[in-house]
Amino acid sequence: IAAFFAPKVLAGQSVLITAGPTFEAIDPVRGITNLSSGKMGFAIASAARAAGANVTLVAGPVHLATPRGVRRINVQSAEQMLQAVQSQIEHASIFIATAAVADWRPASSADEKIKKDGSGDVPALAFVENPDILATVAKLPRAQNGELYCVGFAAESHDLLQHATVKRVRKGVPLLVGNIGPATFGQDDNALLLVDANGYRELPRASKAHLGRQLVTELARRLPGAQT
Ligand code: CTP
Ligand code: CA
Repeated sequence: IAAFFAPKVLAGQSVLITAGPTFEAIDPVRGITNLSSGKMGFAIASAARAAGANVTLVAGPVHLATPRGVRRINVQSAEQMLQAVQSQIEHASIFIATAAVADWRPASSADEKIKKDGSGDVPALAFVENPDILATVAKLPRAQNGELYCVGFAAESHDLLQHATVKRVRKGVPLLVGNIGPATFGQDDNALLLVDANGYRELPRASKAHLGRQLVTELARRLPGAQT
């Protein structure tokens, strides 16, 4: 019902969203991941769909139902997430990176389960850096010339405004959204800080569903050619 009455501010837009954590394998039964629930990204996907957009969600391992009318591609690792994004990005006019992508992955993953050898020795993990999906997309010519509008997210433990301002420029995106602490992983509500070239604006604590709708409104206003 709510979706039926939502203003169609994203009609004609194709939105690609990453959400959830990534899972980086150590061996077939173990890996490293993080506490991202994917709820914020799924809420934005739902709001974007209700606003008339065509929506594709690239989701890491999360236990969430796919929002109605949204196309979903499931992935595990950052490399798979990048691949899925690259396979869909040419159709997108908006890219929203909410995923908590693992910054590093084990340099190699064992084909068989690593066993204790009885000596008490522990395995040593070496890491390599994962590709930066948002930065990769933001460098595409279509992002540079304004045909593809990119939105980043940031979870910081301190100095959110300062970090978000620097991160927006470093990633080369027009809009960066900070999660206002304390840590919101898994919670149903959140508060957001929107940072763009003109300054910042706070969306006060509310349900992620409500914030998703507000963010869609804010986003639509910032699109090239928007009325206000
Ligand atoms: N991101 C991404 N791919 C990565 C890392 C981050 O697409 N490998 C995206 C996230 O989805 C988010 C934004 O980049 O939209 C910022 O992520 P964040 O982890 O806050 O920034 P990093 O650049 O990874 O820096 P750091 O974790 O050191 O603060
Ligand atoms: Ca990171």
